[in-house]
Amino acid sequence: MIDREAVEESLYFRHACKRFDTKRKIPDEDRRFILEAGRLAPSSFGMEPWRFLVIRNEEIQAELRPHCWDQPQIIECSDLIIILAQITAPANPAYYSEMFRRRGLPEEATRAYIERYEHYIGKLHSIQGWVSRQCYIAADHMMITAAQIGVDSCPIEGFVSRKVDKVLGIDRKKERSVLLLPLGYRVQGPRPKLRRPFEEVVTILE
Ligand SMILES: Cc1cc2nc3c(=O)[nH]c(=O)nc-3n(C[C@H](O)[C@H](O)[C@H](O)COP(=O)(O)O)c2cc1C
Repeated sequence: MIDREAVEESLYFRHACKRFDTKRKIPDEDRRFILEAGRLAPSSFGMEPWRFLVIRNEEIQAELRPHCWDQPQIIECSDLIIILAQITAPANPAYYSEMFRRRGLPEEATRAYIERYEHYIGKLHSIQGWVSRQCYIAADHMMITAAQIGVDSCPIEGFVSRKVDKVLGIDRKKERSVLLLPLGYRVQGPRPKLRRPFEEVVTILE
């Protein structure tokens, strides 16, 4: 375990980085380390309804930028992670049955899980909304891990998913971009943290 001071330091280090140093590239092992943190993120029923597409190509980044509110991070970052929400796999019996079977539980317990799962997803308003929320958890795992190893990031929701997916040749019947995560190194230090007071945000009932 790491000590509190180090954790706190990384929480303050992480900020929504607006300008990346275009001359600095993330080492391969750091990229892998950050993506691994995304892979290890928790997901509802363990469905892991995500895929991480990493763009490290200036031409593609330039093509994407106009569909991302023209934000400079898209072209200035070292690596642009596109977080894709899997919208059909979690409703596919072959997929979700295997995700339960891999737990190696007795057949009866596996069947009970599958039944509970089918009941649960049958009541969801939107599979896309449900899987997107989980993708955001994976994104936070990556942002926090990146900060812990001195890599900057910026979560980006300001983009037109349909257009980004078109540029990237994404099959939107299967998956859709829900969040972009540029990674790299800051040009300037972060602005002071603006947050509502602890007492306003937290209520403890004892
Ligand atoms: C879901 C989400 C979407 C965001 N989209 C953008 C964005 O499109 N562009 C941007 O510059 N910042 C974006 N941000 C960053 C926020 O503005 C930022 O996290 C917030 O102002 C707090 O600042 P801090 O992260 O630097 O502490 C987004 C943050 C989140 C969580």
